[in-house]
Amino acid sequence: MGKRLFESQCALCHGQTGGGGRGPNLHRPQLNKAPDDASLRKVISQGIQPEMPGAWQLSPREVKSVAAYVRTLGSIPLEPLPGNPSRGERLFKTKACDTCHMISGQGSGFGPELTGIGSKRSAAFLRESLVAPEAAVPDEFLLLDLVTASGATIRGVRMNEDSFSIQIKELNGEFHSYRKAALKDLRKLRGKSPMPSYADALKPEEMDDLIAYLASLRGNS
Ligand code: HEC
Ligand code: HEC
Repeated sequence: MGKRLFESQCALCHGQTGGGGRGPNLHRPQLNKAPDDASLRKVISQGIQPEMPGAWQLSPREVKSVAAYVRTLGSIPLEPLPGNPSRGERLFKTKACDTCHMISGQGSGFGPELTGIGSKRSAAFLRESLVAPEAAVPDEFLLLDLVTASGATIRGVRMNEDSFSIQIKELNGEFHSYRKAALKDLRKLRGKSPMPSYADALKPEEMDDLIAYLASLRGNS
């Protein structure tokens, strides 16, 4: 029953056999956020804000059986990644990833913090983030192009929006707030990411090294 429930409720994000997707690979005997059975049941029923929804629809018995199944996934050995994490760490700086991402308090905070990214995402998802960042842009990083009343063109990420006003953060970190009625143009670039694709900017070995580094980042965040 746990397996069946996992395949219908969890596989979308964790993969059909728990190998991960947008959510982390569960082929680990130790889970950061679910160190014991009670916390695992809690994670399953209440979720992890904001990205993992709670499985409110499951009865306590069902939650228990999914949890038991997740524990069996933990005995599947993790596939080793091909890259070298220390080379990846150096690339993170030389390729200027740290101009947009913070790791353990270092870097700049334009993009999402990556301190615990290795326990949030699978390696396959990390690869996709580098090759095709536009494939999964979270709503809080919606890219905007707008033209102000004085004719200046501004590109940035939407921070806030209501019926009358919109707040935007430019790539250089500056914040602006505009009355929508005063703007000459406002475009929401859905399907585009503020992050460039690195499909051509990284050699295959460099890509592997960066992914190995990111996957190793399992700190709290
Ligand atoms: C919509 C996507 C999504 C669904 C559906 C989902 N999860 Fe998750 N899950 C995630 C994400 C993303 C994380 C990482 C969250 C974080 O760390 O901030 C996560 C984290 C976890 C963790 C903690 C892993 C660790 O290393 O600490 C467990 C356990 C887990 N999920 C189990 C499940 C189970 C079991 C189900 C089905 C009942 C499920 N998830 C459904 C996205 C999802
Ligand atoms: C111009 C700023 C910028 C640069 C440079 C940049 N990123 Fe990003 N990155 C972002 C933004 C914004 C997002 C969130 C939107 C998205 O996922 O497309 C993101 C998303 C990500 C994600 C997905 C995070 C998640 O929660 O799923 C990863 C991983 C990542 N970046 C790694 C890197 C690496 C590694 C580099 C360097 C090779 C890099 N980024 C360079 C801005 C940037």
